Amino acid sequence: MSLKKIAVFVSGGGSNLQALLDGIHGKYGEIALVISNNPHAYGLLRARAHHIYTLVINSKDPGSDDEVIHALLENNIDLIVLAGYLKILSPRVVQAYKNKIINIHPSLIPAFCGNEYYGIKVHEKVYEYGVKITGATVHFVDEGTDTGPIIMQRAISIGYDDDPKCIQQKVLEVEHAMLQESLRLICQDKLIIEGRRVKIIS
Ligand code: GRF
Repeated sequence: MSLKKIAVFVSGGGSNLQALLDGIHGKYGEIALVISNNPHAYGLLRARAHHIYTLVINSKDPGSDDEVIHALLENNIDLIVLAGYLKILSPRVVQAYKNKIINIHPSLIPAFCGNEYYGIKVHEKVYEYGVKITGATVHFVDEGTDTGPIIMQRAISIGYDDDPKCIQQKVLEVEHAMLQESLRLICQDKLIIEGRRVKIIS
């Protein structure tokens, strides 16, 4: 059976993309396309080092949705991973890839998520609130922001002296393995969505 073709969207460093290149690419799925809204995203260099086709879009350009959809179709993409993509995906893409898009968010959804929670801001809010546990969530993407069915969550403890940067680093450390694991399960058709709940079949 041929490997599922995956597109990964990134805006920055792309350490999650790297985890997928190391743990998924060529084994469970084929990362065939990396898209970024940021021409300086280090994630683009990671993709090019693996000779993966990259596309930089200007999300303010009204034609950018068409460009994205064209690239997804042209590369026969089956699945999309949002791995640190700081833009909202166009509803046209969400509808065209229903239940085929996943996102990783650096908090325990439904806490510290939604439109105003991205990048270091998530961890600043976590720090200010004083919660003792935070973590990361991998979820399917629907029309809302961080609202789709949850696939996997991992928690980390926050020490009294941990500042937002330190919390961010601790969360990132648990993200890579859970994103790999989630994508592997999808590539192997081992996830079933039942309403808001996601079942893992063995
Ligand atoms: C991660 O914390 C991810 O949860 C969030 O953006 C960050 C991306 O980090 N959506 P990287 O670019 O994968 O290193």
